[in-house]
Amino acid sequence: MKVLEPSNALELIPQPLAIVTAGDPGKPGERGGMTAAWISRVSWHPPLVAIAMTRKRHTYSLIRKYSAFAVHVVSKKFVDTAIEVFGSLSGRSVDKFELAGIEPARAETVIAPIAPGFPVVLECRLVAEYEVGDHVLVIGEVVKGYIQSDEEPVVWINSSAREIK
Ligand SMILES: Cc1cc2nc3c(=O)[nH]c(=O)nc-3n(C[C@H](O)[C@H](O)[C@H](O)COP(=O)(O)O)c2cc1C
Repeated sequence: MKVLEPSNALELIPQPLAIVTAGDPGKPGERGGMTAAWISRVSWHPPLVAIAMTRKRHTYSLIRKYSAFAVHVVSKKFVDTAIEVFGSLSGRSVDKFELAGIEPARAETVIAPIAPGFPVVLECRLVAEYEVGDHVLVIGEVVKGYIQSDEEPVVWINSSAREIK
């Protein structure tokens, strides 16, 4: 048995890798998105998803402003974009969509940008948020979900993206 520091042990929980977008897709200064690994479904009825984020994220302020967000499940071909663009830069100073060469479409049910090509997309309405330690748990009701490609999602574990075999 190898004993781990509690925070190192948490790194070993397999997580999804997603890009969470928010804002008005038609306005470069009003749209953004961030990579999130701390994300999970949390209820069947209603269908709810939870994301743990820190309050300082620009995406968080856009989610609050528009009361909505979209979850894009990441496949292998989007891993670099997820880590280097949406997971590293601040939307306050850069339009990440333009930088990544992504032309976002308008979500069908909420105001949020939809990036093409991601395997699974969830359009969500903000329904609640809870303070949890040093993060805030953002809860969204999934109002529409769809598949855009049949590529496999990757898993985020121990600070790296792995393909599902
Ligand atoms: C692989 C990966 C996973 C991440 N997961 C989260 C997360 O779950 N919650 C969070 O608040 N930040 C997470 N981040 C950090 C944000 O994506 C990052 O700070 C981003 O630049 C915030 O952008 P924004 O300020 O434009 O919203 C993650 C970053 C990476 C690279």
